Amino acid sequence: MTTAMNVLRRLRTRAQATGLTREFYTDEDIFDLDLNFIFYREWLFAAHTAELPRKGSYVTLQIGAYPIVLVRAADGSIRAFINSCRHRGYRLCPEPQGTASKLVCPYHQWTYNLDGRLFAARQMGSGFDRSLYGLKRVHCETVAGYIFVCLASEAPDFTPTYNQLEPYLAPHRIADARVAFESTIIEEGNWKLVWENNRECYHCSANHPELAKVYPDTPTITSVSGAAGDPKVVEHWHQCESLGLPSRFHLSDDGQLRAARMPLLGPAVSYTASGQSAVKRPLSDDIPRGANIGALLIFHYPTTWNHLLGDHAISFRVLPLGPTRTQLTTKWLVHRDAVEGVDYEVEELTRVWLSTNEQDRRIVHENQIGMNTPTYEPGPFSHTEESGVGQFVDWYSRLLDRRLSTAAAACPLPSPEKVFADWLRSLPRDADLCAAAQEQVALIDRRASHHPDVQFLRTLLAAVTGDGTWRKPFANL
Ligand code: FES
Ligand SMILES: [Fe+2]
Repeated sequence: MTTAMNVLRRLRTRAQATGLTREFYTDEDIFDLDLNFIFYREWLFAAHTAELPRKGSYVTLQIGAYPIVLVRAADGSIRAFINSCRHRGYRLCPEPQGTASKLVCPYHQWTYNLDGRLFAARQMGSGFDRSLYGLKRVHCETVAGYIFVCLASEAPDFTPTYNQLEPYLAPHRIADARVAFESTIIEEGNWKLVWENNRECYHCSANHPELAKVYPDTPTITSVSGAAGDPKVVEHWHQCESLGLPSRFHLSDDGQLRAARMPLLGPAVSYTASGQSAVKRPLSDDIPRGANIGALLIFHYPTTWNHLLGDHAISFRVLPLGPTRTQLTTKWLVHRDAVEGVDYEVEELTRVWLSTNEQDRRIVHENQIGMNTPTYEPGPFSHTEESGVGQFVDWYSRLLDRRLSTAAAACPLPSPEKVFADWLRSLPRDADLCAAAQEQVALIDRRASHHPDVQFLRTLLAAVTGDGTWRKPFANL
């Protein structure tokens, strides 16, 4: 078993500019920590508002152990609920998406309003109080056509995320778009491997022949440093900002969110074999037709990266399924009036990124297989090519360290003297004190060794294994 304290120790002793050790990509206990301290606490990208076009539209997703349903309520707002019936827990909406005037549980037909209140429950007796059995709410916010949810009982303030994303996203009018195509694949690798692979293009030229024709593998474009020193990038920003499009590189202070508008290769304006637009009807009426605005690149850890172009946008959603399994959902968004077969062909629209996703799926799988090796040791990152990977690993390490430390410090513990005295009293008269103390120290190490009171207790216990001076303060016990 890998304990929280061991994880903290490993995070704090990690060599800079190298990857995490093997357990972070293989271990069930660390996967549980990732869920409990990151995925169940952070704002997560769930879906697009355009996927809930009318009252009663719903979309479902699974985040770790939590089934979620997003619903467009009667007042037009979007709500998120735990997708589990309050009767005996059946998954209320088993389908990925749909439309319903009320949400009816398929098991015994308990029926809920779109705002989550229980509307009807058959044969539950006269004393049954429906108001006690509404669906459990999940925090839900939207920004410029993107829906975020948070499973924490108290969600972090969404305002900073909103304020950073909205100016970049708004001109693309994603709320008015339509999902033209959607693909979900399972990557046989830890969710962090999926991200680390995404955060560098060191591998692109050798692995992504289609993407490499239109997307630059230059680190100043793909990574998180040096963009402002690249004249080509700066010129692109000037050009886009003259059209009213916020474009400059922005990285949030905590490293969770990056936004920047970057040029594609040469004259390319879109992710197609030719580099030309895949969709004749531009994505947004707010962006001048014919302008080469490149790609707005956005990531928000731990669930989404995005490319927003002039003719379409692509969102990617990462959801962890297990220590070595991750779900990746990709959506291609076009103007809602763009007509398939007239304005675009799905095959052309999706070819580059479907190929790229498949190539990355293989990469992540092979990476996981290699990393499973008991002798695996993380090697150094390339300073020029992989600063983005280092930035992701640093973000993850800092966040997990902070959350684990806070949780451990909040644990109510009895005084160390009391624990020690209780332990001494509990020992049989003829106990081997030295062996018992060693056992107790090991137990403490597994539980909470970093806590200052526990450190003191550990010192006392360790003294038992020493010269015997420990006996004096406890002679009267
Ligand atoms: S579990 Fe939903 S109605 Fe019984
Ligand atoms: Fe890739």
